[in-house]
Amino acid sequence: MIPQAAKIGDAKLLVDGKSYDLPLLEGTEKERAIDISRLRDQSGLITLDYGFKNTGSCQSAITFLDGEQGILRYRGYPVEELAEKSRFVEVAYLLVHGKLPNVRENDRFSQLLTQHSMLHEDMAQFFKNYPENAHPMAILSAMVVSLSAFYPELSQDQQNPDEDIDITTTRLLSKLRTIAAFSYKKSAGEPFVYPRHDLKYCANFLNMMFSSPVSPYEPHPVLVKALNVLLILHADHEQNCSTSAVRLVGSAKVNLYAAVAAGICALWGPLHGGANQEVMEMLQSIHDHGGDVEKVIAQAKDKNSGFRLMGFGHRVYKTYDPRAKIAKQLCDAVLNKLGINDPLLDIAKKLEEHALKDDYFISRKLYPNVDFYTGLTYRAMGVPTNMFTVLFAIGRLPGWIAQWYELHNDPAQKIGRPRQIYTGVNQQKFVPMAERA
Ligand code: SDX
Repeated sequence: MIPQAAKIGDAKLLVDGKSYDLPLLEGTEKERAIDISRLRDQSGLITLDYGFKNTGSCQSAITFLDGEQGILRYRGYPVEELAEKSRFVEVAYLLVHGKLPNVRENDRFSQLLTQHSMLHEDMAQFFKNYPENAHPMAILSAMVVSLSAFYPELSQDQQNPDEDIDITTTRLLSKLRTIAAFSYKKSAGEPFVYPRHDLKYCANFLNMMFSSPVSPYEPHPVLVKALNVLLILHADHEQNCSTSAVRLVGSAKVNLYAAVAAGICALWGPLHGGANQEVMEMLQSIHDHGGDVEKVIAQAKDKNSGFRLMGFGHRVYKTYDPRAKIAKQLCDAVLNKLGINDPLLDIAKKLEEHALKDDYFISRKLYPNVDFYTGLTYRAMGVPTNMFTVLFAIGRLPGWIAQWYELHNDPAQKIGRPRQIYTGVNQQKFVPMAERA
């Protein structure tokens, strides 16, 4: 059962001289909402809200965002503190269970991740038939939904009550990491590197990505720590586009793998998680064309240009995305420690400096979001640009899983089925084809 918002009174809606009382709810962080669950029954009216800008889809106890203050907390813990003091696996446990693990719980979770790291060999064969230039997000989504064929334990309607939540969670967290690394190796034309039982989550991923039979790879501690931080920054973000896709698909009582596969497809979009790849390509293009930042800013402000400053702006944050602050500091620290001087970082900082002084961005409250700096650190790790959104998906997976479980444990949840306002033609008479003009 998830905690429910308190009813603090009624909102009054006056339509055609009739007044309707709609419950006024308040959450634990004083956010308020008008509950319109019975609006149509009472008044025959629906609401219309493109992009659900003003519409809540659920009550949730997982993540709290305050877009005006730039606050992000997972189960009450500030993301800044988790990024500094925690590890991704610990945060994954926190999101799914609602509490940080003790030593025993963490050890079991970690052992299960190791136990479930291998992919069924028949699934590994799937990779052979993808073209080398297949986008790894296409492979990721297809492979994740195929897990339901290989691991049918998750009954079609909802999580199998007999199956331990930790087994379901760790199986998906661990196999997604292996699928991601295999999709990179496939694109590089290199042999797969299998997970090692002596390496923890992030080090194992880096090893599967960059080790090869001819050149053993030792995951650099700076990169292991950086990857933990980056995955923590992406771990959940309340009802964003891809999480809403997971919930909507999950609301039809389909299994977790199918719901997550839908989330991966939504995340792929350039307006959403795909933006981290778009940012890198944008920075590279600016660099290749002489680094004229002013020209790019002017383009971003010109509605007719069709160009947007990727990595800038956010539906919820109307101030600096707290994750972007951490990602920028992390990028500086990693590049300094590794002695890397990346001209694209200088371009990114110049873009930020110009945009944050420009009224177009200030008046629209457009700031760097999580995607603006993260790709530069992935690049320092050696991750190719088309894998950036895959890393976003690995980070977001515990959030999707936690939200899916919360959905299935919320008795108030129903199948998601929005209404519409019809604006097409009124009823017409059917005319036989021979008589049509
Ligand atoms: C993520 O929701 C989440 O939580 C997502 C996420 C998560 O963790 O799950 O945080 C991850 O998806 C981050 C966002 C990554 N996307 C990008 O960086 C793509 C570039 N940004 C935009 O396309 C845009 O800002 C969105 C998609 C992020 C938000 O879009 P909205 O809220 O629908 O805002 P909008 O498109 O209506 O823009 C409002 C105004 C418009 O100008 P006007 O019509 O008012 O004149 O701001 C302008 C837009 O043209 N604008 C931009 C801009 N973003 C918005 N102008 C130039 N460059 C931009 N990047």
